[in-house]
Amino acid sequence: MRGVIDLRSDTVTKPTPGMRRAIAEAEVGDEQKREDPTVTALQERVAALLGQEAAIFVPTATMANQIALKLHGRPGNVLVAEEHSHVLVYEYGGVAAHAGLMTLGLPGTAGRISSAQLRATAAPSAKAADQRVTILSLENTHNNAGGRVWPLQDLGDVIETARELGLATHLDGARLLNASTALGVEPAEIATRFDTVSLCLSKGLGCPLGALIAGSHELIERAWREKHLFGGAMRQAGIVAAAGVYALDHHVDRLADDHVRARRLAEALAAAGVPIELERVETNFVQIDVAPLGLDRSDALTRLRDAGVGLSATIRPTVIRAVTHLEITDEDIEEAAELIPTALLAGVRGSRSPARKNAITTTP
Ligand SMILES: Cc1ncc(COP(=O)(O)O)c(C=O)c1O
Repeated sequence: MRGVIDLRSDTVTKPTPGMRRAIAEAEVGDEQKREDPTVTALQERVAALLGQEAAIFVPTATMANQIALKLHGRPGNVLVAEEHSHVLVYEYGGVAAHAGLMTLGLPGTAGRISSAQLRATAAPSAKAADQRVTILSLENTHNNAGGRVWPLQDLGDVIETARELGLATHLDGARLLNASTALGVEPAEIATRFDTVSLCLSKGLGCPLGALIAGSHELIERAWREKHLFGGAMRQAGIVAAAGVYALDHHVDRLADDHVRARRLAEALAAAGVPIELERVETNFVQIDVAPLGLDRSDALTRLRDAGVGLSATIRPTVIRAVTHLEITDEDIEEAAELIPTALLAGVRGSRSPARKNAITTTP
């Protein structure tokens, strides 16, 4: 048995035996010359899945976002996004470094901004013509909000406003398939609304690495050039793309299981007295606010690690998270549902469970 139930992130998964076989058997060629048949197949699959004309394979979702946003602007243009979105918070100011974009973060609710906010921000200003908001980037599901999903109506309203204002639109869809799964719609129902969409392979889909940008033929042609400029033009990349093809065949339908397990964990924790806002649990994230327990974050994470459950920090100082993924089983969830309350409520209840062996030593 593994020593730790690792719920830190859906990025911790390792390739399954089936995926490793697909990797070993991949047909490959020179990707930079567009001669890798597996990369080409993956790109075609993802373009069709997202209802876009074309797609391009890149090593990471960060690079996908960065290239896509660079396609949409020129230096001095303003990118608007929800203030805690990945492109603003975790990409090292890449849009400024790579594209010369300025950024404007708007406060969101559940990771979402409204049409009214966008309209107030992006109304054309005669004075600062070159500093106009020209790009809107949304995130779905929204990582820092706790895997929250955009309702289609809200998404439609904001995108309609963006179009009216003449903005280019990008979706950070690293976890787009979690969003479509939660809504019970085809991924294209979300993705076709945007000029560009990024999709990550190394989260819920369980690949070792890889991401794609989807968009029009014209934009994706330009993305090929940017990819080279970023140092992301590869050679026999079909070795990795094969994992992506395998994941599209085997790991999409099962995302619903991750959501059911997150919900089961959240309900069990809430029933045991752990502070959880159940209505926030929409996909594979469960957020726990440890402040009402009189704990600080590092204290809480250490207690959990010692008990044998890995959770991780979030952008909110007193909130930690558990994330379900393809290595987490129903049994893990039942066990975590016992271990987490015992560890976190120890001071409150005056009891504590014995520590599991081989506790993790790393933090995210
Ligand atoms: C919403 C979102 N976008 C982009 C990324 C970047 O992914 P990568 O680590 O593949 O660059 C992440 C990673 O956690 C993410 O959560």
